[in-house]
Amino acid sequence: MPKVIILSIYITCMALAGLSGSAQANENKAQVNKGLIFDGDAKCTKCHDENESNPVLSIGKTRHGTSADGRLPSCAGCHGESETHVNKPEGRKDRPKPTFPFGKQTQNDINGHNEVCESCHKGGKMIHWTSSIHAARDVACTSCHQLHTAHDKVRDKRTQPAVCFTCHKEQRVQANKPSHHPILEGKVVCSDCHASHGSAGPKLMQRDSIADTCFTCHMEKRGPFVRKHEPAEDCTICHNPHGSAIDNLLKTRPPFLCQQCHEPASHQGGFPGMAAGKSTTAGQQGITNARACLNCHTNIHGTNNPANQGNERTFRR
Ligand code: HEC
Ligand code: HEC
Ligand code: HEC
Ligand code: HEC
Ligand code: HEC
Ligand code: HEC
Ligand code: HEC
Ligand code: HEC
Ligand code: HEC
Ligand code: HEC
Repeated sequence: MPKVIILSIYITCMALAGLSGSAQANENKAQVNKGLIFDGDAKCTKCHDENESNPVLSIGKTRHGTSADGRLPSCAGCHGESETHVNKPEGRKDRPKPTFPFGKQTQNDINGHNEVCESCHKGGKMIHWTSSIHAARDVACTSCHQLHTAHDKVRDKRTQPAVCFTCHKEQRVQANKPSHHPILEGKVVCSDCHASHGSAGPKLMQRDSIADTCFTCHMEKRGPFVRKHEPAEDCTICHNPHGSAIDNLLKTRPPFLCQQCHEPASHQGGFPGMAAGKSTTAGQQGITNARACLNCHTNIHGTNNPANQGNERTFRR
């Protein structure tokens, strides 16, 4: 194709893109303006309009601003009627706060704010909320959720960890350790394992147990195994799910990990040398080699090895 034609196609495309871009913008604006004015909102939006440094009207772009949905709150539906805020009492110097101002103070004083949200968001996915540790510790819905933006950080894989880390600093440290779930990489997210609104399992687990939660991604660790390495119900006996300096998220390095439960001296079958300094093969590999016990006990979670039951029993190949 001659260059001129390519160029003119390019220009035409750009022009079209520009046109449709601004048409889109106008449409968005119309939608926002339409979506945000529920009956009665005008009494707030006469002061709180698009000129705000904090664009409160962008709530029109969220689910809470879908005017077609009759279940949705107006400004007063969340902030309360705010009588004295709307009509500043005569003689008062500063404008009283709205009934439910939300914002920063809700992190220290939820004072009825959660009840506003709970009046609509109850049952269903919120069924465990009232018995959750977050509710018990007065964590505000709005400590995690932002309402006046189409991008609610806590519901986006890439930005969620930062929200949780504001309170959970220890997990931030762990997530930065050499062996970690790819949380900071945006591939695994806190809410893959934890149900922030509460759950029937321990530690806000998404499933009824820790192991069941892990099996959602690590299916092969469920087995079935002919021989299973007990204890198997709690993976965190050996693993730290958030991060570790040791490979494979291990809490302690083998052989010490293993020796928490297995007496070094009890090793049978001509492998007495689990103590340091012995020159037997097992002694060498058991202590000085980085994989230690795992050099031989390679299938530590469980085995299916009908051909060699001795190996099967002791988690070897
Ligand atoms: C007459 C003007 C006016 C009206 C009407 C009005 N506001 Fe305000 N609003 C203000 C001003 C001014 C501020 C900032 C006050 C401040 O900084 O303390 C404010 C602040 C707020 C804040 C932030 C509170 C905080 O803690 O900083 C919220 C939320 C709010 N208004 C909601 C509403 C709602 C909801 C309505 C309608 C029910 C409403 N406003 C009606 C003038 C108004
Ligand atoms: C679904 C609940 C909800 C609705 C509906 C709602 N707000 Fe808010 N508003 C909040 C929360 C929560 C905050 C605290 C900041 C945040 O989470 O975005 C807030 C913050 C504000 C602020 C303070 C902003 C700041 O940064 O200081 C103003 C002003 C405000 N809202 C006005 C309004 C107006 C006007 C309407 C109606 C157009 C409205 N809100 C509708 C929940 C709501
Ligand atoms: C008057 C009822 C009402 C109130 C009050 C209310 N919401 Fe909602 N909210 C809804 C409805 C309806 C939806 C639409 C989605 C749905 O069906 O759950 C929604 C959606 C949401 C969503 C999902 C948004 C999305 O894009 O999918 C979040 C998060 C949320 N609300 C949080 C809150 C929080 C936090 C509060 C308190 C500050 C609150 N809501 C107050 C009715 C309400
Ligand atoms: C500890 C942080 C945290 C708190 C506190 C919290 N949420 Fe959430 N919320 C989340 C996360 C994370 C998601 C998205 C992933 C998920 O569903 O687990 C979410 C999703 C939602 C949704 C989307 C609908 C859905 O379930 O798919 C609604 C609605 C909601 N939250 C309402 C609330 C309300 C209302 C409160 C207070 C009673 C609240 N949240 C408290 C973290 C939190
Ligand atoms: C791969 C699954 C998984 C992921 C992803 C995950 N966790 Fe956990 N978390 C667990 C398990 C299992 C426990 C319970 C055992 C433990 O404390 O080691 C736990 C415990 C916790 C605890 C309680 C610690 C205690 O001492 O009781 C907090 C707080 C926590 N996680 C926060 C987070 C945060 C924040 C994120 C995201 C940055 C996150 N978790 C990601 C699995 C996970
Ligand atoms: C505003 C602070 C705050 C935020 C934000 C927050 N949490 Fe928490 N979380 C707490 C408090 C307080 C506890 C109670 C235990 C404690 O003091 O650590 C807790 C406990 C937990 C536990 C331990 C549950 C148990 O049974 O021991 C887990 C898991 C957890 N949070 C996950 C999360 C996740 C995931 C997020 C982000 C989606 C998050 N939290 C955001 C304050 C917060
Ligand atoms: C949402 C899916 C998901 C869940 C749930 C999950 N994991 Fe993972 N896990 C991963 C991914 C992805 C990797 C990284 C794999 C890779 O890098 O090839 C991983 C890696 C690992 C590793 C190897 C880490 C390393 O340094 O190589 C261990 C150990 C592990 N997970 C244990 C667990 C345990 C224990 C649980 C339950 C508490 C769990 N996982 C839950 C997705 C998950
Ligand atoms: C008795 C300690 C122990 C328990 C309990 C345990 N693991 Fe492991 N896990 C290990 C060791 C040791 C390794 C390293 C294995 C190797 O390098 O040969 C490992 C490695 C892993 C790996 C990464 C390497 C691979 O084989 O894919 C995953 C994923 C994993 N474990 C998941 C789990 C899950 C899920 C559970 C709970 C059902 C669990 N582990 C329970 C000790 C344990
Ligand atoms: C939390 C305690 C615990 C830890 C840690 C642990 N084990 Fe075990 N292990 C057990 C229990 C309990 C059994 C079952 C004993 C039985 O069936 O007689 C077992 C069984 C075994 C067996 C088979 C024993 C037999 O008599 O048939 C081998 C081999 C083994 N473990 C190796 C290891 C290795 C290697 C490690 C470190 C990677 C390890 N274990 C870590 C508790 C543990
Ligand atoms: C050089 C390979 C090798 C190394 C390294 C090794 N083992 Fe073994 N282990 C074996 C063999 C082979 C058996 C089976 C012996 C038999 O059948 O009599 C065995 C058996 C076991 C048993 C079953 C009980 C018993 O005494 O027969 C346990 C428990 C065990 N090993 C734990 C460990 C631990 C913990 C370590 C690390 C400190 C370790 N092993 C290192 C090869 C090894």
